[in-house]
Amino acid sequence: MVKAHSIDDAVTVKELRKSYNTFSALDGISFSIRKGEVFGLLGPNGAGKTTTIKILSGISMPASGTAKILGYDVVNNPVMVKQNIGVVPETSNLYPELTCTDNLIFAGRLYGISTEKAKTGAKELLHIFGLEEKRNVLFGRLSSGMKRRLTVAASLIHDPPVLFLDEPTTGLDVMSARALREVIQSLKDRGITILLTSHYIEEADRLCDRIAIIVKGKIITIDTPEALKKSVRTEKAVDVKISPYTPFIEKEFSKMSTAVKYEKREEMFRFFIEDLDTFMSEFSAFIKGQSLSIESINTVSPSLEDAFVEITGLRREIMIQEKGGGK
Ligand SMILES: Nc1ncnc2c1ncn2[C@@H]1O[C@H](COP(=O)(O)OP(=O)(O)OP(=O)(O)O)[C@@H](O)[C@H]1O
Ligand SMILES: [Mg+2]
Repeated sequence: MVKAHSIDDAVTVKELRKSYNTFSALDGISFSIRKGEVFGLLGPNGAGKTTTIKILSGISMPASGTAKILGYDVVNNPVMVKQNIGVVPETSNLYPELTCTDNLIFAGRLYGISTEKAKTGAKELLHIFGLEEKRNVLFGRLSSGMKRRLTVAASLIHDPPVLFLDEPTTGLDVMSARALREVIQSLKDRGITILLTSHYIEEADRLCDRIAIIVKGKIITIDTPEALKKSVRTEKAVDVKISPYTPFIEKEFSKMSTAVKYEKREEMFRFFIEDLDTFMSEFSAFIKGQSLSIESINTVSPSLEDAFVEITGLRREIMIQEKGGGK
């Protein structure tokens, strides 16, 4: 669907291409981000996410196509683009030998704001990001979660309306990732337009209003997380708990015509079915015949991961799932 350029769009990208020698890193991508929207670029390693951010930030030149930030062309008007964006790169661009406060003030000076204004801004940002206690600590001595937070803070010192976050939570533990997501959410609430890249499906699901799925330099689809999930044609599945639990019942399933495929999940069975009503009438009769009862039955709805796998045709493992307690 081609959408006319709207003044409500903060970012407009049209047919952007970028090659490294003969390798095509971006193969004509187009999308627009509405003002105030959190837009996610979701894709596996090497998909072209960082390349896109670099072009949108004026760090890297496209081979062809156009990209505009609030109407300013990234190639023709890089100064205005830089004034209007905050960029959080994959690896921090702050100085390990400067304190948190000094890093923020220095970042402000780079954007041409007065030391006075930068000092006030630094104080505010340290407060918002929960780093007041660390204001006089050298950046190099912060934990990695705090480093990330300060890097995001520094990108906001000139109060930009648009923010680019490249893999904001990669490498953070679950708690730090959650804290950072809350900060991102609060920036959205303040009306900042956010473009973030991620290969955490859950993160994109939680934070983004819309997601573009990018693979090998091409955008495959753009939609809301909800619509992406709805578009999945996964087989319908139901989780059934039989009471009393009897693993031997499995042997009897083959007698039913509708329970062809199933998985055992702890004290539960997941049936992959064609039609819920047909399955239910046969299954209830079957359970009754065995003098058992159904303790619970729940339909399983597709996750964004299911949508991703189906839409891209990629294996599940290619995208990282954030696991509780792990990295
Ligand atoms: N300076 C460069 N020279 C040559 N190839 C490059 C350069 N920068 C990026 N590429 C290639 O372009 C492709 C896209 O890279 P990019 O960094 O945009 O991917 P990404 O989606 O950000 O991946 P990741 O999830 O690993 O960060 C990759 O195949 C990469 O090797
Ligand atoms: Mg990247």
